[in-house]
Amino acid sequence: MLLNALQQTAASTLPLHLPAHGRGTGLPPGLAALITPQLARLDLPELPSLGGPLLCRGAVAEAQQAIAQLWGSRSCWFGVNGSTGLLQAALLGALGPGQGLLCPRNLHRSVLHGAVLAGIEPIYYNLPFAEDWGMHRPVDVTWFHQVLETLGSQDCTVNLVLLVNPTYQGLSAPLTPLVQLCHDHGLAVLVDEAHGSHFRGHDALPRDALAAGADLVVHSAHKSLPGLTQTAVLHCCGERVCKDELEQGLLLLQTSSPSSLLLAATELAAAWPHQQPLAAGLLSRAMDRWNQWQQELTHGGWLVSPSDDPLRLRLCTMGRGHSGLELDDHLLAFGVAGELPEPAGLTFYMGLQTPGRALHQLQQALAQLPWPQGHRQGSQVMPPLPTPLLARSAVPPRTAWFGPSRRLPLQQAVGHVVAEAITPYPPGIPLLLPGERLDEARCTWLLRYSHLWQQLDDALDTVKVLA
Ligand SMILES: Cc1ncc(COP(=O)(O)O)c(C=O)c1O
Repeated sequence: MLLNALQQTAASTLPLHLPAHGRGTGLPPGLAALITPQLARLDLPELPSLGGPLLCRGAVAEAQQAIAQLWGSRSCWFGVNGSTGLLQAALLGALGPGQGLLCPRNLHRSVLHGAVLAGIEPIYYNLPFAEDWGMHRPVDVTWFHQVLETLGSQDCTVNLVLLVNPTYQGLSAPLTPLVQLCHDHGLAVLVDEAHGSHFRGHDALPRDALAAGADLVVHSAHKSLPGLTQTAVLHCCGERVCKDELEQGLLLLQTSSPSSLLLAATELAAAWPHQQPLAAGLLSRAMDRWNQWQQELTHGGWLVSPSDDPLRLRLCTMGRGHSGLELDDHLLAFGVAGELPEPAGLTFYMGLQTPGRALHQLQQALAQLPWPQGHRQGSQVMPPLPTPLLARSAVPPRTAWFGPSRRLPLQQAVGHVVAEAITPYPPGIPLLLPGERLDEARCTWLLRYSHLWQQLDDALDTVKVLA
């Protein structure tokens, strides 16, 4: 285990090396008062006995091999720049400039930024939208069949398919037949499983991407495993993607001083779903808790969105006449911090060990939420952003990103190629992507619903376009 190797190395070597704090002895007093000396002395550089994520010898390499074996992948790499860094490295490794990535509209902005860095040409596919819940549903096989057929008829070449699974709101696609469908079309599959690494830990949860046969999988150890913030893992399976080229991608983006503490935390977190019966026990309790919360909140008049993930619960706010952003503001005033505010709902991350009395505190805060004046309780619908099933951007994101640009009021930008992403954060899912030509329908939608996002990001009034 990497943690043991760090302890052995710290005990057996004289510290005439970086980091500058000298194994904790020179830390600023405020920090030294919080970090135990035992932990601080393990903040070690890539010493020969330890190595690093891209070195084939040392304790880090051994830890990565052990994790790959547990998950059944060919190789894996730990990352200390979140899923962001590993998704981008995977794109840089798997695709060359000008190659095509078939990616969903609910892509995280890190993928878009990866496309800018790598000069990739994304082709965006739509996801089904549940208007009554005001959120995207994951694709199913029929839907994806249609995407691939449209792709064929438009004579587009793609070299890699991206699936984001589960969605941020906790819905999961049938990954096994989807991956099979892509493989049948000769396409390799990258799954952004940032929010679903824990699925491996319980048989009742959806099948995880590696079990489903995906070629590349990215896990956020801090989002869906008990890892520290910034920790993530990239897995590679089979022969469709070249391992050496992935390592080249990692080399482009990885720090030359990855934190040994974060790497050790990554190993422990990535092993967690295989620590049975501990993991299954905690996940079973999480499922019971989700059901209890769902029942009690529904009893209190709230609409709880469907979820495949017991760690996240979403209140649909449309029927209450509030946006999820307004509900979030209201709850923050009562000391309740949700995870994902959106126009039509607010998702809470309940985690593996939800604080005691959390439901009670949430219910009390919800009970103080006033009904908006003149609002009649009942269901409402929110239409999706009007986008075609499949869309190629007018110019590649890289050209749009670096091209000469100017800023226009949104309504004057119709017909222009957009030079920036409009990405309210969270969720970090773009509404407009650089390189796309803004059409009338999308502009009208953005103007009509911009007030719903405005609280998060007041940049929706104007947009940067190519000059
Ligand atoms: C689907 C998805 N992928 C990737 C990321 C990036 O993850 P990280 O914060 O670990 O860089 C996020 C972040 O929210 C995400 O929601």
